[in-house]
Amino acid sequence: MQSKTIHPASTFGGELCVPGDKSVSQRIAMLAALAKGTSEIRGFLTGEDAISTLNAMCALGASAKFKGDVLKVTGTGGKFKEPANPLDMGNSGTGTRLLAGLLAGRAMTVTLTGDESLLRRPMGRIKTPLEQMGAQIDLTGEKGTLPMTVHGAPLHGIRYELPVASAQVKSCVLLAGLFAEGKTTVVEPRPTRDHTEKLFQTLDIPLHIDGLEISLQGSGPKGPQIAARKLTVPGDFSSAAFWIAATAARPGAELTVRGVGLNPRRTALLDVLKRMGAQIETEITEDQDDPIGTVFVHGAQLRGTEIGGDEIPNLIDELPVLAVAGALAEGVTVIRDAAELRVKESDRITMTAKHLRAFGVDVEETPDGMTVRGSAKLIVPEEDLESGGDHRIAMSLAVLATFAAGPVRITDTACVDTSYPEFWKHLERLGGRVE
Ligand code: S3P
Repeated sequence: MQSKTIHPASTFGGELCVPGDKSVSQRIAMLAALAKGTSEIRGFLTGEDAISTLNAMCALGASAKFKGDVLKVTGTGGKFKEPANPLDMGNSGTGTRLLAGLLAGRAMTVTLTGDESLLRRPMGRIKTPLEQMGAQIDLTGEKGTLPMTVHGAPLHGIRYELPVASAQVKSCVLLAGLFAEGKTTVVEPRPTRDHTEKLFQTLDIPLHIDGLEISLQGSGPKGPQIAARKLTVPGDFSSAAFWIAATAARPGAELTVRGVGLNPRRTALLDVLKRMGAQIETEITEDQDDPIGTVFVHGAQLRGTEIGGDEIPNLIDELPVLAVAGALAEGVTVIRDAAELRVKESDRITMTAKHLRAFGVDVEETPDGMTVRGSAKLIVPEEDLESGGDHRIAMSLAVLATFAAGPVRITDTACVDTSYPEFWKHLERLGGRVE
């Protein structure tokens, strides 16, 4: 099993670009595979999640080739072929849930499966709306989990009020809605990331957004006519978040991240860190549907804060590293309304709390979050820290380890490749030492 030893960093900061956004890459892979013609995609993530989704689209009849940093995807024009074998979605919850939506209205039967972590993740949340629309979704795992067989069928539009604030469920229903007869409406309890809606707009797929209600008119079984495009994937803000938090919590440190996605539904981490006392500025350099820009960070002694409510979906993947920032801050940081963290690649509440305690931090776990009492002098964990196969847990721990007084060993670190294969190299570039 791969492991990494992180040494304390005496200085930290510099300048870098992060790899392509995971959410955007996967959505583009799906829609380029649906389009007619060859799309040219710049900045596509080569992390395992995006590649699993791309491979699935190739198994459905698209073809894909990298030429330098441009990915060329030749789409099916809407004519997917039934794959001979189950599609292995690896670790990707986004790929699985969105693809189930895309397949629900096609006259074919497709089985989706994945790795150990994906096999534990809840899929009932997409089965319910897709079956209301007319598809049959068999979840053959023990607890409403993968493997999942999608029996595509003629769909009709529905109005669906999401029981949880989930961009994945919203996107799944909207993708299914493309192939339904009539209107599909999704109502969100809180605003979640809107990359699907933005991409539909870029691809001229008509969509109506009225506050938290998103509607589209389905095209029926033949689906929408989408023309291939040139598309750019912004740098992944959730990958940049590790460096932004690592710098923000270190007085005097400075960091510049360029080419990063600054969609406001993704960047609530910046508001929280500013509230905690960091100096952060942003500059938009490409104002496309998903704005791209530069983030400048000046570190400071942080102070604790409260994080909850509408902010949560817009920093959901950043909560482990925000808890790390809370551990390094003076005072108390409270995270609430984040029960969804328990059903991510791992139970991120339990995993984060357990690991912060190993550094001597006072953490109390709650059903929907945690309370972190910061500024304790960190101790060097006596035992290896196990990532639980969760990339964001491994990377958050690596950030905290740079603040410890001695080397820290993190095990099961191969999972980092799902979203950020260059992470360890970048950690070293910014001042960390990794063995
Ligand atoms: C994602 C949405 C979020 C996020 C995940 C990616 C997406 O999940 O945690 O990493 O690409 O739509 P939920 O929408 O299930 O909260």
